[in-house]
Amino acid sequence: MAMAASTLPVLLLLLLLFSLSSAAAAASPAGRSPCFTSLFSFGDSITDTGNQLLLAPDGVLGHCCFPPYGETYFGRQTGRCSDGRLIVDFIAEQLGLPLLTPYPGKLHSNDFPLGANFAEGGATALDFHFLAEKGIYNTHTNLSLQVEIDRFKELLATICSSPSGKKCKDYLSKSLILLGEIGGIDYNRAFFEDVAADEIIAIVPYVVAEIGKSIKQLVELGAVTILIPGNLPIGCWPGYLTKFWSPNKEDYDPLSGCLVWYNNFAQHHNILLQQEIARLQKLYPHTNLMYGDYYGSATRFHRHPEKFGWGALGFTGSAVVACCGGGGPYNYNESLICGNEGSKACAEPSTYVNWDDHHFTEAAYKIVAKDVLEGPFSTPRFNASCLVGRASDDGLHSAY
Ligand SMILES: *[C@@H]1O[C@H](CO)[C@@H](O)[C@H](O)[C@H]1NC(C)=O
Ligand SMILES: *[C@@H]1O[C@H](CO)[C@@H](O)[C@H](O)[C@H]1NC(C)=O
Ligand SMILES: *[C@@H]1O[C@H](CO)[C@@H](O)[C@H](O)[C@H]1NC(C)=O
Repeated sequence: MAMAASTLPVLLLLLLLFSLSSAAAAASPAGRSPCFTSLFSFGDSITDTGNQLLLAPDGVLGHCCFPPYGETYFGRQTGRCSDGRLIVDFIAEQLGLPLLTPYPGKLHSNDFPLGANFAEGGATALDFHFLAEKGIYNTHTNLSLQVEIDRFKELLATICSSPSGKKCKDYLSKSLILLGEIGGIDYNRAFFEDVAADEIIAIVPYVVAEIGKSIKQLVELGAVTILIPGNLPIGCWPGYLTKFWSPNKEDYDPLSGCLVWYNNFAQHHNILLQQEIARLQKLYPHTNLMYGDYYGSATRFHRHPEKFGWGALGFTGSAVVACCGGGGPYNYNESLICGNEGSKACAEPSTYVNWDDHHFTEAAYKIVAKDVLEGPFSTPRFNASCLVGRASDDGLHSAY
C-alpha cells in the first residue's frame, strides 16, 4: 500500500515527462536540413507541383491534370506531369521540408514560408513575344521565366519587406533555390513546329542569357545557394523518336537507342549554361551556384537501364518507350497523348524510365534527384551534410 502510494507520483511524473518530450519532439525542427529553412523553385512541367492545375488559362486544363497522372504516389491528379513525385519533391524530402505548394497557393506560414513553387507547365525561358518574332508559338501558356521571377518578388514583398531589405536577405540566404529545368519548352515548340535547326541553335544563347538574368535578380534579392539544372536528353523522348524517326542506324546512340543529334543539341545548351554559371560565380563569389547535371544522370540510366531503378526489378520495362501514351513503337501519338480518353498506361510505371514522352516516371525522377544531391551529378558537389537522409536507404535496385 505504502509502496503503491509512493510509486504513483513517480509514474505520473514519468508520464508527464514523456508527454512533454514527445510534444517537444513534434514541435522541434528535428529532421530538418541544417543548411536550408526554405526551398523555392522555378521552371516548367518538369518542376510544376500544381500551378497548371490552379492557374490554367481560361480554365482549360492540360493533359497532366487527368488520370492516370499521380496514380503511383498521390492517388489523384495534382497537376504534376508524372505518375508521382518530381525531382523537386525529392529535393524537399531530402531537406526535411514539405512538398512545395504552388504559388499563389496557400502558403504554409504567413510569415516565413518553408517554400513555394513558381514553376508552371508550358513555361518558356524566353518571353512569349520574343519567341513569336522568331516564329515559335507557345499554344499552352504565355508564361515565361521572368513572370515567375516577378511573382516571387511579389511574394517576398508580402513576407519580408523592410527598408534595408535585410529581412529578405537573411531569409533568402537560408533558402535553396531550384532554377529550372527551363528552356526545354522553347526548344520543343520550335522543333515540333518545324523551325529550321540553325534558327533553333541561334536562340540557345538567348535562352541561356535569360537564365543568367534570373540568377542575377535572385542574387540581388539575397539568394546565396542556387541549383541550376540543364536540359534532359531530348533525343531519348518518345515524341522526338517518333517525329524524327530515321532509317539511318548511325543517327542513334547504339547503347540507348536515342537520337544523337537532339541529345547533342541538349548538351550544347548545357555547355553554354555552364559557361554562364561560371561567369556569374566569378561575379558573385559569396554565392554557391551549382549546375545540376540532369542530362548526365539520365544518360547513365538510358544507356544501362537494367542497372538502375528501385525495388527488385529496376528499369526492365523500357527506357525509350513511354509508359503512358496512345500506341505506336514508342507509345507516342501526337493526337492521343497520356491523359486523353483512350490513351493507355503500363501496369508497372516503376519499371519504365519514361512516363508520357517528355516527362519521366517517379522512379526515374527519384534517381536524378539522388544523383544531383548525393553526387556525382552536380558541379560543384551538393553539400551532403545538408541532407537529412539518403535516398540509397530506400529500396534502390540492387544492381545500382
Ligand atoms: C498572357 O495571357 C493572359 C491570359 O490569357 C493575359 O491576361 C495576359 O495579358 C497575357 N500576357 C501577355 C504578356 O501576353
Ligand atoms: C493516333 O491517334 C489517333 C486518334 O485516336 C488515331 O486516329 C491514329 O490512327 C493514331 N495514329 C497511330 C499511328 O496510331
Ligand atoms: C556543409 O554543411 C555543413 C552543415 O551545415 C557545414 O557544417 C559545412 O561547413 C558545409 N560544408 C561546406 C563545404 O560548405
